[in-house]
Amino acid sequence: LVIVLDFGGQYNQLVARRVRESNVYCEIYSYRTDIETIKSKNPKGIILTGGPNSCYLEDSPTYSRELFELGIPVLGLCYGAQLMMHVLGGKVERASVREYGKTEVMVDRSSKLFENVSEKTVCWMSHFDYISQVAPGFRITAHTADCPVAAAENEEQKLYAIQFHPEVLHTQEGTKMLYNFVRGVCGCCGDWRMDSFVESSIESIREKVGDGKVLLALSGGVDSSVAAGLLSRAIGKQLTCVFVDHGLLRKNEGDEVEAVFGPEGDFDLNFIRVNAQERYYNKLAGVTEPEQKRKIIGEEFIRVFEEEAKKIGAVDFLAQGTIYPDVVESGLGGESAVIKSHHNVGGLPDFVDFKEIIEPLRDLFKDEVRKAGLELGIPEDLVFRQPFPGPGLGIRIIGEVTAEKVRIVQDADAIYREEIAKAGLDKEINQYFAALTNMRSVGVMGDERTYDYAVALRAVKTIDFMTAEAAEIPFEVLQKVMSRIINEVKGVNRVFYDLTSKPPGTIELE
Ligand code: XMP
Repeated sequence: LVIVLDFGGQYNQLVARRVRESNVYCEIYSYRTDIETIKSKNPKGIILTGGPNSCYLEDSPTYSRELFELGIPVLGLCYGAQLMMHVLGGKVERASVREYGKTEVMVDRSSKLFENVSEKTVCWMSHFDYISQVAPGFRITAHTADCPVAAAENEEQKLYAIQFHPEVLHTQEGTKMLYNFVRGVCGCCGDWRMDSFVESSIESIREKVGDGKVLLALSGGVDSSVAAGLLSRAIGKQLTCVFVDHGLLRKNEGDEVEAVFGPEGDFDLNFIRVNAQERYYNKLAGVTEPEQKRKIIGEEFIRVFEEEAKKIGAVDFLAQGTIYPDVVESGLGGESAVIKSHHNVGGLPDFVDFKEIIEPLRDLFKDEVRKAGLELGIPEDLVFRQPFPGPGLGIRIIGEVTAEKVRIVQDADAIYREEIAKAGLDKEINQYFAALTNMRSVGVMGDERTYDYAVALRAVKTIDFMTAEAAEIPFEVLQKVMSRIINEVKGVNRVFYDLTSKPPGTIELE
């Protein structure tokens, strides 16, 4: 076990995830966790994360010197590195310029941390404060043009400090550095696999649920499907999945979901499909503001569940397929700001009448969710299916949602997906879909003037869905998609390709 001590930084879960990628189990604890609890866990290593504060200010999160005297290897990252220096007698000061972004770092390869790392390597920096003097017993093992101490260590006491963020992918060899720490310095053997997650989750679900009943919000996307699979394996028919067809699903998706999880499918659970299309369209009529749309769709979900729950009788738990990026971007993951209220995290109204919520995938990133899905024996085509947001096409239709617009975007999206698969690009691109802009423009078709909608095609490459880049789709594929959409989908006379990366864009358009 490696313990990640959370000091409120943006990338904390990424640290845990990189550790797990090295096949080492880790858990995240708040920096408020006392030393006895930490000792009782018997960790092989401790990682201190970044955080938004200045360690030399009085009210900033801190930790006692004892932590560094346990004989357990400690790695401090960014704020964690500064804190380590500060507590052990080094000096941290405010820098005259903020160092931010990709930065070339010169590393000393004799350090265990930098074994097999290039001498000059690109790292992600994000700090106002800097270490102006290392603590006694430490030597400097990396620097940049602006930052005299980009890394330092006291090898004898197994204390390591890194000013940059090895956990983000922009640090090109960051995974290697974390690997070097957990496997090399801490001596973890690396036998943790996704099956351990599945097994331990099944156990903890059984323990938590006992003989209670669980109601799952099955949306048809990867996350809630994997959650359904996991819960079904753990508690079988104690699980009821309510699948709400809100009329904002992709083309034919309702029937496809029913085929997998319904009575004809392979999972042991109770499956209920609610056809609520009309109800949603009525609620959404005239609403254009994205957050309001999300809220309506989310709340309506809950209302439908409540109604179903009443029909079923007493329900003890509400399960959800929330995954970690949802948590972070809803502003619940420490200090980060609210970007979008992902409805399965932030949108729960106060008067939900379930005892408790279960979110078995809350700590996982998308690719980890997929691995768990495969581990559970969920069919590959479902596991690698396009991720689909809870609010569905509601957030892929800019402006007011109407049945007509849903039809347009469903048809355009189906064509797009078909052509991407035909071109063999479906495994390569992590998420791709058609969206409907709220823009109408003039065109000409068969000598007639048209005044129709523009469809936007989106396709991104991403690993963790926190950052993404537009995929490079061969032009002839795009042209084929464009011509089919214009010819086959009534109401569209223009097709755009969205080149925006995330950030500054988000993956969905709303
Ligand atoms: P964004 O648009 O935030 O999307 O860059 C990141 C990933 O999250 C999905 N997404 C959602 N998933 N409920 C969900 O379950 C939501 O409200 C939601 N909004 C976005 C999006 O499809 C992408 O994979």
